[in-house]
Amino acid sequence: MRPVIIVHGGAWAIPDDLVEAHKKGVRKAALRGWRILEEEGSAMDSVVEAVSIMEDDFTFDAGIGSFLNEEGRVDLDASVMNGDGLKAGAVASVYRVKNPVKLARLVMEKTEHVLLVGEGAHRFAEKMGLEIIDPSELVTEREYLRWKEMKEKGYSPRQAFVKDSTVGAVALDSKGRLAVALSTGGTPNKMVGRVGDVPIIGSGLYADNLKGAAASTGHGESIIRVVLAKSAVDMLGLGLSAQAAAESAVDLLKRIDGYGGIITLNRRGNVGYAYNTPRMAVAYVVNGEVEVSI
Ligand code: GLY
Repeated sequence: MRPVIIVHGGAWAIPDDLVEAHKKGVRKAALRGWRILEEEGSAMDSVVEAVSIMEDDFTFDAGIGSFLNEEGRVDLDASVMNGDGLKAGAVASVYRVKNPVKLARLVMEKTEHVLLVGEGAHRFAEKMGLEIIDPSELVTEREYLRWKEMKEKGYSPRQAFVKDSTVGAVALDSKGRLAVALSTGGTPNKMVGRVGDVPIIGSGLYADNLKGAAASTGHGESIIRVVLAKSAVDMLGLGLSAQAAAESAVDLLKRIDGYGGIITLNRRGNVGYAYNTPRMAVAYVVNGEVEVSI
């Protein structure tokens, strides 16, 4: 099987001065994920590596550099899913872990559960030997200033449109296995305890070796209501091309005036992506050739 990886770095009105940083970030993540696939590594290793790289890049709303919540803290959500056996793992409201996507993978591999939140997720991270950090290590000056301005000027949920750089990756490995991973800091100034689409299996992400895989980005509350990723994967299962499934899935958001985007990969290794925002950062690697789009 010809391995393929596609990654996204969020769908929103990416301003001109941030285009290069987004292009560079998604390109690097896709190539690092591809290197694993090229050496016959698993699709899961590939997507976790690609998403970890974007979590460490403060360009994106994931890991360090994420939006702050209403109390000025970064609260992270992440998830993974294997198309082989439909196994999934997720974490929500995590603020003491540098790479929540790695914790989500451990939930899938080392527990009988799918989703761990808050304190329980932190205890599990410690038990698994993941590095526990001070929450302030996730806060950048840029996001502190944005948060301060929102507090002073007021905020409406629609303003999330100003930035949604949730990150995601979908891969197919040489053994025909599909995997997907997703990570986010959520929306700016969100309520404490707010959880978006990312750790909701079927909304943020879905993978099924018999059909295909997809990773969403955008306004979480809208994505949850249309079950975006599973809808796209079901369309792949019905025989739509990866591109048609991505476009039809994004069309579902219209009905509720939602916004966002999606990347798709079918079981034959064809990629698709679509969005209804001004821009979406995407990179994919097929036959060792990387393509970047924004
Ligand atoms: N799509 C990320 C979120 O709304 O939390």
